[in-house]
Formats: sequence, structure tokens, C-alpha cells
Amino acid sequence: MTEMNTSPRGGQGPRADRGPARVNPADKSQIKAHPVSLKRIAALFAPHKGTIAVVVLLITASSVISLAQPFLVRGIIDRALPEKNMPLLAWLAGAMIAVAAATAAIGVVQTWMATAMGQEIMHTLRTRLFIHLQKQSLAFFTRTRSGEVQSRLNNDISGMQTVITSTATGVASNLTTAVGTAVAMVALSPRLSLLSLVIIPPAVWFSRRVALLRRDITTTMQAELATMNTQVEEGLSISGVRLAKTLGTTGRDAALYTASSQRLIGLELRSQLAGRWRMATMGIIFSAIPALIYFAGGLPGSTMSIGTIVAFTALQATIFRPIMGLLSLGVQWVTAMALFSRIFEYLDLVPDITAPVSPVPLDPATVRGEVRFEGVRFAYDGGPDVLRGIDLALPAGSATAVVGPTGSGKSTLGALVPRLHDATAGRITIDGVDVRDIAPGVLSRIVGVVSQETYLVHASIRDNLLLAAPDAGDAELWRALGAARIADLVAGLPDGLDTLVGARGHRFSGGEQQRLAIARTILRNPKVLILDEATSALDNTTEAQVQAALDQLAVGRTTLTIAHRLSTVDDADQLAVLAGGELVEVGPPAVLRDAGGAYASLLAAGEELEPAT
Ligand SMILES: Nc1ncnc2c1ncn2[C@@H]1O[C@H](COP(=O)(O)OP(=O)(O)OP(=O)(O)O)[C@@H](O)[C@H]1O
Ligand SMILES: [Mg+2]
Repeated sequence: MTEMNTSPRGGQGPRADRGPARVNPADKSQIKAHPVSLKRIAALFAPHKGTIAVVVLLITASSVISLAQPFLVRGIIDRALPEKNMPLLAWLAGAMIAVAAATAAIGVVQTWMATAMGQEIMHTLRTRLFIHLQKQSLAFFTRTRSGEVQSRLNNDISGMQTVITSTATGVASNLTTAVGTAVAMVALSPRLSLLSLVIIPPAVWFSRRVALLRRDITTTMQAELATMNTQVEEGLSISGVRLAKTLGTTGRDAALYTASSQRLIGLELRSQLAGRWRMATMGIIFSAIPALIYFAGGLPGSTMSIGTIVAFTALQATIFRPIMGLLSLGVQWVTAMALFSRIFEYLDLVPDITAPVSPVPLDPATVRGEVRFEGVRFAYDGGPDVLRGIDLALPAGSATAVVGPTGSGKSTLGALVPRLHDATAGRITIDGVDVRDIAPGVLSRIVGVVSQETYLVHASIRDNLLLAAPDAGDAELWRALGAARIADLVAGLPDGLDTLVGARGHRFSGGEQQRLAIARTILRNPKVLILDEATSALDNTTEAQVQAALDQLAVGRTTLTIAHRLSTVDDADQLAVLAGGELVEVGPPAVLRDAGGAYASLLAAGEELEPAT
């Protein structure tokens, strides 16, 4: 009966009202695309067999115990009250309270057990999912819609809790209550039970129809509201207003908003009315059923006692709800299966980049750091080749600058060394060992990356630095900050190393963030360094500071710098020129400048390389 918004496409948050729902088409197609085996779901629950047995037992017990209620009522009305039998009355009344208390207590224990089990299963699944997703390559995160990963980890897994604690226990209790009540009804009066058979199905059918109608109107209304929200977001944000004013679409936007608002009037009216109708129908049904029973009980020839009639009426009201609940079983089933399907789909992802089974031992402390590209070819996700036939040697401790027009594959080339992507063909070696044969933990100690996009986690400066070297002491941190030309700035902050980085902390500028990232890499002390120079995000002074930090960092390491500055190129030992994914020139910068080849024409075009200031 409980509903959840498990579809990441829904985006409206959990619905407030309860009632029957319709199958979400997105859920259906999810299950079709990734069918779920029941065995696999059973395996998740297998460790909790004992708990499940106890919960089912408790549910059954509470349904059976609560069935005593109508019989107690009958006893009070037919015997205790007319006979003025005080002890019996006290007994029966006390028993009524005891039954209510017992079912309530069982309910608490059952909820506690089911929730604890649900949380255990959730915990297992979400940690497994997190660890599994971590293993995915960069390519996975590039092609996955942003927010999708978060949605599966948060919404789908918490939807699981609902499936376990509400849906599953709901089914069990609805079923036992419905069956138990039906049995009790027959026991009380077979004749009235026959009458119920005529009354209850149409009543259930009718109230379900009214409820579904209401749900449909509510869904349409929510969609319209979402449209209006988008219209406000798009039309009244800075960029939206700018676009509307420059494109002259303000009139069109206003007309669309007016139309949406107008439609909402009708929808709101229908929704309110449908809600009222639903309550009215339920009211009529709940009064009509006992009325019909009383009427049947009073027909000539009926021998039923008043107590039986009253008790029976109570039972009939009880059976209504579980039947309604069981009718939405199909929808709940689809929702739950879609949930499992989405989670299993992610758990089944095979990482495109895997750790070697038997890594070649390499010591990050003694590695020389000679890097070789041998016949390297690369394409993103089955697309066209972005790199072709790359053969390039970076001698240990040397500096190589890579230049080339935008989109020529420079960043891609750099990303292959730390295995952010794997070459489609050919290989990359460090000291003669294929990078794919080096344990990931070792490779990340050997190869350091400072890219255009620096990423600092939302934590203190100290914690950010300790990510690179967990054992470093403060003196070491300050040395690294000094080498990265950022020590003075950090020392000047009121909280020093404890300053929080990020949205809720100190907002460092782009250049400052880059220097912090450089300090982090200095602490990491990798033998091989991949530097992707910032193109134009920094002003001249900042650029000079970052450059100084980078120069300091490069000392004594094999560096591959994606260069956007003439000064970087001039200081390099060798220059590699990329064009259209191919290495077109390699040689000392001074020689290539005068050779009249690709580099010379790049310089002449003057677009890529700006003179250093
Ligand atoms: N994740 C990706 N998926 C598909 N294609 C990509 C991806 N990343 C880059 N490309 C494509 O690969 C080619 C090389 O991109 P790359 O980023 O290596 O160029 P670049 O030389 O670094 O360019 P810039 O100087 O602009 O930084 C481009 O055509 C680009 O569109
Ligand atoms: Mg690039």
C-alpha cells in the first residue's frame, strides 16, 4: 500500500497521499531490459531466513489474535449484558483490551525486526554498489547521466527498505487478515457470509475505481505543476531571462505560462472534487454495508442474535482494507522488481579497466620512470580513433612538451598513462613494464596527474593534502605548500591548515586551487608526472605563480606536459607535436621551431601557444 518514488525520472519526491497506483511504464521497460532472477533476490534474503520466519509468525499471530475481537463483542452483547453477568462482562471487556494491546505489541516487534533486516540488506547492497561503481572506468562516469548514480545509490536503495518493511510485510498481513477474517465470518454466520459475497466485491471494485480515477487526475496535475516549475526555472533565471530577452521570446514564454496556469484551474478543481467524491463514496459504502447486514438480520425467519450481527458487521469492515491492499499487489510487484533490476544492473557492470591478476612488482621508490608509448591507438567507446600509431619515448627524468591544435588528442594521451583509459591497441610501459601489469595502488604512486580541472574535496586543507600522503607531518605539509607557492596564503588564513575548502569553507580562486593540487602532488612524490596546463583560465600574475609551482614540481621527474605556453615548450627536452591524433613531429624545441614543419606553422598560426609573459 505504501508507495515510493523509485523512478529517477519521476523527480517529484515521495507522493503524499496513499492509495492504489498504476504501474510506472519506466519500471516496466527497466524490467524488460534487465530481467531479475528471483533466485538472486532470494539470495539477498537467505542470511535472514530466521528473521523472516519469526516475522511471518508474528504477523500470523497478530491476525489470528485480533480475530477474537468480534467473538468477544458477541459474548458481551448476547450474554454478559442481557444476563447482567458482571464477572463475565469484566472478563470479556478485559480480553478486548488485552487483544488490542497484544496485537499492538506484536506490531512493534514485527516492525522493529523487519526494519532491522531491511537496513542490513540495504547496507550490504549499497556498500557493494559503491565499491563496484568505484571500479568503473572514467568512461562509465562520462557516459552516465549526472545524478543517475546518486539516484540509484540513494533512492533505489532506500526504496528497497520500503519494499522489505512495508510491501512484503503488508502482503503477509493483508493475506493473513483477509483469510482469517473470512474464516471467522463463516464461523459466525454462514448465511451472512453468503450475503457478503454479494455485497463486498462490488463495493471493493467501486471504491478502487474512484481511487484510481483520483490518482490519475493527481498525476496529471503533478505533471502540469512540474511543467510550470520548469517554465519558472527557465524563464525567470538569469540565463533564461537573458536568452528570452535576446531572442525576443518573452511573449511566447508568458503565453505558455498562462496556458499552463489556466489548465491547472481545471485540474485542481477536478482533483479536489475527485477527492471529495472518494471520501463520499467510502462513507456511503461503509454505512451501506452494516445497514444491509442489519436489514438481512431482521428479515422474517432470521434466527441470528444481535451479538452475531454486530460482530459480523465489525468483521466486514475489517476485511475491506486487506482486500484493497491485495488488489494493488501487481503494481507493488512491478515496482519492487524494477528496483532490484536497477540495482542489479549496476552490480553487473563489468569494469572496462581491470586490475592485473598477477601484477609485475615495481617499487615506486626505486622506479626510474622511463615511459614509452608503443604503437598506441585509442578510441572512446567504439568511436573513431582519437589517437593513432603513437610511438614516443620519455627518457627517465626528462621533460616532454606536447602541443597540437585543440581536439588533437593531447589530454587523451596524458590520460592513458595513469590508466584513466586503456589503449585500444599498442601499449604504454614504465621501465619496460606494461601499465596494465602494474597494481593500481603502485601505478597511482608512480604516476602523478595535475590536470586542468583540479578537484579538492570538501574538507580541511590538511585533509586534502593528507589524501596524497597519509603519514605526512605538518612540517612536510608546509614544505609542500611552500614549493607550490601557496604557503604564505595558507599561513595568512585564520584557521591555517584547518581551513575548510569548498562551498561552505574558504572559496579559493582557480589559481589557488591549482597550487593546492600541486602541493598535493608534491607530497605524493611520483616519478612520472602528467601536467595538463590550464589554457586561459588564469590571469598573468596567477599564471606566473602556478608556473613557478609547476617548475618546482617537475624537478627530477619524468614529465609529460600538455603545453599551452611557449615558455614551457622552450624549457622542455623534447617537443611532440600532435595533429588529428597522430604524432607528426618529435624533436628538440629549438630545432623544430626552425625546421619549417608542423610546429613552425602552429607557431605561425599563433592560436594555440601564447608567448609567456
Ligand atoms: N569522453 C570522451 N568521449 C568521446 N570523445 C571524446 C571524449 N573526450 C574527448 N573526446 C574527443 O577526443 C578528441 C581528443 O580530445 P582531447 O581532449 O584529447 O583533445 P585535446 O588535444 O586535449 O584538446 P584541448 O587542447 O582542447 O584540450 C576530441 O575530438 C574529443 O572530442
Ligand atoms: Mg585537453
